[in-house]
Amino acid sequence: MPAKLNLKNYPLSLYVHWPFCLAKCPYCDFNSHVAETIDTAAWKWALLTELDFRARQVAEVFSVDHRNIELKSLFFGGGTPSLMPPQITADIIDCAAGLFKIADNIEITAEMNPTSVETEKLSAFAHAGINRVSVGIQSLDETGLKFLGREHDTKEALSAIAAAKKHFPSVSADLIYGLPEQTTANWTEQLNSLLSFELGHISCYQLTIETGTIFHTRARQGHVLTADNDAIAHLYVVTEEVLGKAGLHAYEVSNYAKLGQASAHNVNYWKAGDWLAIGPGAHGRITTANGRFHMANRKSPDGWLSNVTKKGHGCETQVIETMYQSFDEYWMMGLRLCEGRPMTPPPAFGGSDFVLHQDWLNIFIQEGWLEINNGTVRTTLQGRLRLNTILSRLLDVPENELRAEMS
Ligand SMILES: C[S@@+](CC[C@H](N)C(=O)[O-])C[C@H]1O[C@@H](n2cnc3c(N)ncnc32)[C@H](O)[C@@H]1O
Ligand code: SF4
Repeated sequence: MPAKLNLKNYPLSLYVHWPFCLAKCPYCDFNSHVAETIDTAAWKWALLTELDFRARQVAEVFSVDHRNIELKSLFFGGGTPSLMPPQITADIIDCAAGLFKIADNIEITAEMNPTSVETEKLSAFAHAGINRVSVGIQSLDETGLKFLGREHDTKEALSAIAAAKKHFPSVSADLIYGLPEQTTANWTEQLNSLLSFELGHISCYQLTIETGTIFHTRARQGHVLTADNDAIAHLYVVTEEVLGKAGLHAYEVSNYAKLGQASAHNVNYWKAGDWLAIGPGAHGRITTANGRFHMANRKSPDGWLSNVTKKGHGCETQVIETMYQSFDEYWMMGLRLCEGRPMTPPPAFGGSDFVLHQDWLNIFIQEGWLEINNGTVRTTLQGRLRLNTILSRLLDVPENELRAEMS
């Protein structure tokens, strides 16, 4: 049994998953589905019902009135939440405001796809209370968009960003790099084109071939679907240079922001904060007196909806993680942040009971991939390029597993 802890770790974030998309992109392994019809009334009811359930649950765990818990961020993710009827987002925000104390500076983000239909709905989303959008541009190159199987063209992408800027105080855009044969010139041109909008936040993701996707099948058939590793590493370095010069500094492996414009919601995940999550496949965490409470919902949209209808929630698993699991997640998430994480995690994440592999730590410091300052471990740019390797070595400490078994 984990030691009893005395933690009150609010404030809290809330994630809302909308699993539907116009089409399934060939590279995407998110919990996203194309549905012929969506019973929006049933979905609205189910999301509100689960939100109510989660608020009561967290209040019970912390032994406080949920109206005293402060909500500091809310994130509509997907799938494609910009396909939601804006009234449902308004109802969820209103419901959250009735259940929790809303932070004065609450960040309410929605992911949006840049098709013209969705751009037309932006004013209604702003009216609903959303104050930040993350626009899934993916590419500002026609060939790139076709390769990625996107539903929009570059003209729509550019109009969507311009419209988003008009309606929201905070706008971010996602790009994917590392497409086959992508040149530095092509990538720099895309970055500069995006920079002309003077956004405060940009996410640049390396194209990853995820198991179970169409790209995965095609890759197994011998198609080349990404640039080679050296080219990808170079594009990553170029990204930091080009965005850095424009004042958007890397604060996470794939995220760049002007001062004060990092995504509060995502930073909360990376810093192992607490969050509730509603919708199919969504998962949340709360730090309780007995360790980290891990909640995971049923993944299938129909299955989730039917569970909520029968039981008032779509939860599939609810467990207190072992401290070793929490320690693992602390580093897997935390080392993604450029500022790094304290070497000794808080008690709920193992405190000093578990350790990183000291020999590998020394090697990575010598290589210039990691730095330790004032008890904080952080990656360098060269380290972020190799984060998966670094994490797999640092966390591979057999004694940790032994200690976890004995505790
Ligand atoms: C939840 S997803 C998609 C949000 C939205 N539906 C869209 O398509 O723009 C969030 C982001 O993950 C990134 N992403 C998804 N799959 C990826 C992959 N296989 N490789 C790299 N980036 C990926 C995309 O940039 C995407 O905007
Ligand atoms: S990338 Fe976005 S639009 Fe495409 S399938 Fe995934 S969630 Fe849907």
